[in-house]
Amino acid sequence: MKLRFIFGSLAVIWVAGMSHSALQARPASARDYAGELRRDRAVAAFGREGGQAAAPGGNKTVWDGVFSKEQAEKGAAAYKTACSECHGNDLMGDGFAPALSGAEFTANWNDLSVGDLFERIRISMPPSDPKSVTPEQKADIVAHIMNQNKFPAGTGVLETKTEALKLIKIELKK
Ligand code: HEC
Repeated sequence: MKLRFIFGSLAVIWVAGMSHSALQARPASARDYAGELRRDRAVAAFGREGGQAAAPGGNKTVWDGVFSKEQAEKGAAAYKTACSECHGNDLMGDGFAPALSGAEFTANWNDLSVGDLFERIRISMPPSDPKSVTPEQKADIVAHIMNQNKFPAGTGVLETKTEALKLIKIELKK
């Protein structure tokens, strides 16, 4: 959230010069306000939607159907083989390995991105040999984790690129 806020602020400054009202807006609403302003100004400046200023950000969250049911099912199988021995079949952890589902997990990752979670798994899990599970399997496993945390499946498929996944925010509530 902070990054996007900073980006939004920079874009506003870039597009409109120092915007007095944007800087005065309260943080909770400033992000949306800056996004609106950025889009409006971009349309005004370029005469069409999707101008340069609107490109980064993505603005997706885990509530937008970013993985498919099939991907989560593949992920469930890979998870069972590579992760369940420590994190549990139900993803609730084993006391040593933390839970990957439930209130504590989503609170930990709230406001971070799917890319952050993917990257954590990509570089460090399973601890004994992170390369034993392919990036594709890890993206599928993230889909399984999303599914278990009751985020909705949809038409999307999680990619294996951390940068792309960083555009999808983990939000506890819609
Ligand atoms: C040998 C046991 C073991 C296996 C197998 C294992 N993990 Fe872990 N995992 C841990 C432990 C212990 C931690 C906490 C300490 C650490 O970060 O290394 C952890 C931490 C994590 C975290 C961070 C959780 C948080 O909220 O901070 C994630 C995500 C994760 N594991 C995912 C996975 C996935 C996905 C797999 C399968 C590809 C996997 N782990 C396999 C033991 C394991």
